[in-house]
Amino acid sequence: TTVEWEAASYDMGGHDTYMHKEIHEQAEAVDRVLRGRIDDRFSTVHLGGLNLDAREARRIRRVKILGCGTSYHAGMIGAQMIEELARIPADAEPASEFRYRDAVVDPDTLYIAVSQSGETYDVLAAVQELKRKGARVLGIVNVVGSAIAREADGGIYVHAGPEVCVVSTKCFTNTCVAFALLALHLGRTRDLSVRDGKRIIAGLRKLPTQIAEMMKQEEEIEELAKEYAEARSMLFIGRVRGYPVAREASLKLKEVSYIHAEAYPASELKHGPLALIEPALPTVAIVPDDDLLEKNRAALEEIKARSGRILAVAHQEQEKADRTIVVPKNEDELDPILMGIPLQLLAYHTALALGRDIDKPRNLAKSVTVE
Ligand code: AGP
Repeated sequence: TTVEWEAASYDMGGHDTYMHKEIHEQAEAVDRVLRGRIDDRFSTVHLGGLNLDAREARRIRRVKILGCGTSYHAGMIGAQMIEELARIPADAEPASEFRYRDAVVDPDTLYIAVSQSGETYDVLAAVQELKRKGARVLGIVNVVGSAIAREADGGIYVHAGPEVCVVSTKCFTNTCVAFALLALHLGRTRDLSVRDGKRIIAGLRKLPTQIAEMMKQEEEIEELAKEYAEARSMLFIGRVRGYPVAREASLKLKEVSYIHAEAYPASELKHGPLALIEPALPTVAIVPDDDLLEKNRAALEEIKARSGRILAVAHQEQEKADRTIVVPKNEDELDPILMGIPLQLLAYHTALALGRDIDKPRNLAKSVTVE
């Protein structure tokens, strides 16, 4: 069985699909996840539902994030933010894998279950198994009062509003922002300085305006999508912060356009995927302006030297790329939140050009409530 939104009960607000509407709602949605949570006095955030006091927060030795599909990708971004801002070892794993591998459950680890719907069976089963073994589990969830929200010891609602399209967009973005809030909170109970706290808060506050700014590039992206709609397969690459962005963009494209897409860490190209490079296989490269910029540029050169076509998503025009989508720069740690957004638009317009059933891609359901 699957849970379906009663799509008819939500207004499309002049958009042709819910996906389009939900992509365009992101500035507003991010504003909502931030609202009432920032504490300027102590350069931190208040997360009322966490049920985790400062002493408990300081005792956490590791963070393990579990989710499926897009929520897993948001978890990968979240794990990096927690490591960077709170310096707690963190990683993400598909909940569907975790629950079958007889994982060691550690009392000093904070487990975080991520789910838009709060009903995904694999995530719920992982939460129940963890709770049975005495672990502390937080939920990062969109749907208020959902099964995972009820089962968790505490958590953060992402307040993205109802997401009707099977393909998740605004919930991904809001989940990443929720992780940034959690990372900042954990960081400020540990060694993150007031100065860095202020820097991250300023970055968070910029997000809604920057997202609205990016939406102005839609026409340009629509043109690009017409070119890419002819591709049979696409490669998405990124390094460290860019890698989960590449993963999520690749999932978006395959779900909604049915074009085969594969995501790879840019650093792994030389260990195999370079063999695939030829003009018929376009590469989408995530190239943030951070300390890995030169490394990423070198990867573009490798691809160009083998006549590969490149679309870069970057903070500045990339000379080696055929086309660059320039996105606004934020703080390095928050850049992944913004870099995937133009690629949601690319997936949407590619699917539109191919006449796909955008809100209900074949074989997929909004919420997978079975094994
Ligand atoms: C997202 O575009 C997908 N439809 C899918 O991967 C989804 O993210 C996954 O099934 C998890 O759903 P959840 O967030 O509701 O748990």
